[in-house]
Amino acid sequence: MIDRPRRLRTNEILRDLAAETRPDSRKLIMPYFVREGEGMREPIGSMPGIDRVSVDNLIKDMEADIKLGVRSVLLFGIPDVKDSVGSGAYSENGIVQKAVRKIRKEFGDQVVIITDVCLCEFTDHGHCGIVDHGKVLNDPTLEILARTALSYAQAGADIVAPSDMMDGRVAAIREILEDNGLCDTAIMAYSAKFCSSFYGPFREAAGSAPQFGDRRSYQMDFRNAREAEKEIIMDIDEGADIVMVKPALSYMDVIYRARQLSSLPLCVYNVSGEYSMVKAAAEKGYIDEKRIVTEIMTSFFRAGSDMVITYHTRDILKNSWF
Ligand code: PBG
Repeated sequence: MIDRPRRLRTNEILRDLAAETRPDSRKLIMPYFVREGEGMREPIGSMPGIDRVSVDNLIKDMEADIKLGVRSVLLFGIPDVKDSVGSGAYSENGIVQKAVRKIRKEFGDQVVIITDVCLCEFTDHGHCGIVDHGKVLNDPTLEILARTALSYAQAGADIVAPSDMMDGRVAAIREILEDNGLCDTAIMAYSAKFCSSFYGPFREAAGSAPQFGDRRSYQMDFRNAREAEKEIIMDIDEGADIVMVKPALSYMDVIYRARQLSSLPLCVYNVSGEYSMVKAAAEKGYIDEKRIVTEIMTSFFRAGSDMVITYHTRDILKNSWF
């Protein structure tokens, strides 16, 4: 026998030498849910370890997380008041704008700030766009998304990340940023974002479940991978700096295709439901959390991702899992 792959599996040093991939905690992005008020901390039942916090507590959490090694953060805002057009998203004193300014003031360039750009947390109907007669309208929504992205960039965000899935949003955001001299703000596009039941816990966290219907008229059909390639190509043409596949675990084929297709940095979003399943099974003692999380993160890098948004970031760093 000539081919004996086991030769390189003999001991740990050899295995490390031969390893093709290694997970890197510098490539993780930690999401936070920020709400109005002071001294507020509300645990999210379906996402153990993740809380909704007011800005003062957000700063405390981030200070501890930065000490652990968190370098990049993704912000979701939960406003007190919602309306039909999501005006809390682009208001100068919106919750995300206030959080971004405070983070920048406290931590300077120690942290990269990414803001999710979407309307569903800010609209009373819970859809990601303007609604008319039960329909989510594309083009009128673009203007509001662009205003929102501009406002986050002006507050100090390094990266704006549109997650709404309206057609043409990346171009609209790129144009408004350039017109306002914000040529250094990057766009991370949720390019292949599927309509997924894996977002269930997030909607509890953000109070953003649609009040009627569902998101199938704008988010992608999970039966489609060729269409994901088309979405990615469109976002690149429109000026995205980073493209994303979301969710992650059930979409490894899409991650792999995205990697073959594009030389842009690729992000994957290990979403709330994926996190909750691991946490629930770990709490029951069915699985070894450290090993499972390390294997999952490694698989994203092996599939071709350059960075991962994951709620596991704090646990990984706190326990030095890798
Ligand atoms: C906003 C948005 C959602 C997520 C990220 N941005 C929810 C949705 O599309 O319904 C999901 C994130 C997660 O599940 O962790 N549109």
